[in-house]
Amino acid sequence: MSIKIAPSILAADFANLQQEVKSVEEAGADWIHVDVMDGHFVPNISFGALVVDAIRPHTKLPLDVHLMIEEPDRYITDFVKSGADLISVHQEACPHLHRTIYHIKDQGVQAGVVLNPATPISSIEPVLSDVDFILLMTVNPGFGGQSFIEQVIPKVGALRSMLDEKGLQHVEIEIDGGINEQTASLVTKQGATILVAGSAIFGQADRKQVISELRR
Ligand code: DX5
Ligand code: ZN
Repeated sequence: MSIKIAPSILAADFANLQQEVKSVEEAGADWIHVDVMDGHFVPNISFGALVVDAIRPHTKLPLDVHLMIEEPDRYITDFVKSGADLISVHQEACPHLHRTIYHIKDQGVQAGVVLNPATPISSIEPVLSDVDFILLMTVNPGFGGQSFIEQVIPKVGALRSMLDEKGLQHVEIEIDGGINEQTASLVTKQGATILVAGSAIFGQADRKQVISELRR
């Protein structure tokens, strides 16, 4: 499967979001990753559905909304109306995970489940056949620009094997946190096919160059 690159706008210049989104689209990005933080589930506040509304008319790329919030069910419809194409929720924030997955899918949007570095893949085994993708965090969520946690690497391979054994070859693995030209290959070797990168992309003037390096 080919590698998709999803720049995280958390690292973009918020005063120029329209140009920032256009620049990564022109540089070859596959998705736009949108980090929503509530200051409760994670110790930082970013933005909500209004920002998804604002960028929606300025890109054709799928908007990949990563909800780092408590009680995500209360907000899913707002993000769908704002134009999200994919919505992922944290296993750690969803006591009724199966219901939440279908709350997303029933509105015609692709559903993903996210695991923090310390959460085992066994915790989502019962819902693997219900999701469109799994996002494994390689940092503790809340901030951009943190260091990649290497201990997560074997989890990627183990999840890929678990999916393949269940006949779920179509379920993709996305990786988020500390992805750069060095760490990208560590996770793609284990079967990850979607890479989120914030600071590595928006911190560089030549975004086309970074995106093609990450894809290799
Ligand atoms: C972390 C966010 C990430 C973050 C990635 O809480 O979910 O998407 O923006 O940023 P970098 O690539 O800088 O680690
Ligand atoms: Zn994210």
